[in-house]
Amino acid sequence: MELNILPLDEAALKAPPVDDFGFGNLFSNRMFTQNYTAGIGWHDARIGPYGPFELMPSTAVFHYAQEIFEGTKAYRRADGNINLFRPWENARRFNVSAQRMVMPTVDEEDHVAAIIKLIELENEWVPNVPGATLYIRPAMIATDPALGVHASKTYIHFIILSPVGAYFKEGFAPVPVYISDEYRRAVKGGTGNAKTGGNYAASLYVSEAVKAQGYSQVLWLDAIEGKYIEEVGAMNICFVYGNQIITPKLSGSILDGITRKSVLQMAPDLGYEISEETMNVNDMIADLKAGKITEVFGCGTAAVIAPVGKFGYKGEEYVINNNQAGPVSAHLFDELTGIQNGRLPDPYGWTYTIEVK
Ligand SMILES: Cc1ncc(COP(=O)(O)O)c(C=O)c1O
Repeated sequence: MELNILPLDEAALKAPPVDDFGFGNLFSNRMFTQNYTAGIGWHDARIGPYGPFELMPSTAVFHYAQEIFEGTKAYRRADGNINLFRPWENARRFNVSAQRMVMPTVDEEDHVAAIIKLIELENEWVPNVPGATLYIRPAMIATDPALGVHASKTYIHFIILSPVGAYFKEGFAPVPVYISDEYRRAVKGGTGNAKTGGNYAASLYVSEAVKAQGYSQVLWLDAIEGKYIEEVGAMNICFVYGNQIITPKLSGSILDGITRKSVLQMAPDLGYEISEETMNVNDMIADLKAGKITEVFGCGTAAVIAPVGKFGYKGEEYVINNNQAGPVSAHLFDELTGIQNGRLPDPYGWTYTIEVK
């Protein structure tokens, strides 16, 4: 890939924030962009000023949602350098999503090289505040200016950067989660295992409704029988039975989470047993009531590990571990964030360090 670095307008440059990062409202000065044209392939790879696209109102993505995205982070190390966490896994998943949405795949090495170059140029935007990180958002959109329902022949692939604050501002606090018994996020054979905007659009109705009832996330059940546990809005889910961690099997409608994969790989080394199972929600509730489930946690890039303090289901509430974060969640959070920010050794080779000159 021939990557052009375009000049910035010095007068328009913003300084990175030092606190009050929030989540996803601030963006660095530069972005990566490349274009795709059928018959030509990817072209015009460049890093230039962060700014708007000029797109016709007829542009395909606005109408038929042919779109994919990813989410990964850059972490500031104590020595001032910067770690990426498994960026090649995100690149691979980006292409899995692209194939499902009939979009062109990207060269995974080029995609990661673009992220590395962008972070090198924007290194000051990686926060140096405990828990705060630089969120990396690659995306691809269909750009044919035509209303016929078809796979677009032109696309834009872009990567933007957003400094984000610590997910847990008041300590490692458990989140309340509602199990939706009426609405479904994704069905086997659908697009649930692709990271495409439509899945998230479909989830907003219920997410907003449960927020009004004091829950911060939705736990989705399978769409065919409505009884098998799938995943939370933007996290996979794990159940702790003493020393055993159980997570739903990838069913085709669940996102293959990189944090989930990392938990499954590292947990046995930390002394836990792991198992991927088809989990019936009624059995899970019975196990909660019987005290067999000692902790529940979500896992995903945003929070890393998010303990669940209670479930709401069919109008009832089920409190988990007295609404406290448990030791297994805390242990995994500590180990994973330690590897991510370089505080702990990385025996798995998951991190890529960018030296800040
Ligand atoms: C629907 C969904 N499930 C699970 C996850 C967790 O995946 P990861 O650990 O790769 O961030 C995410 C976030 O990317 C998600 O959006």
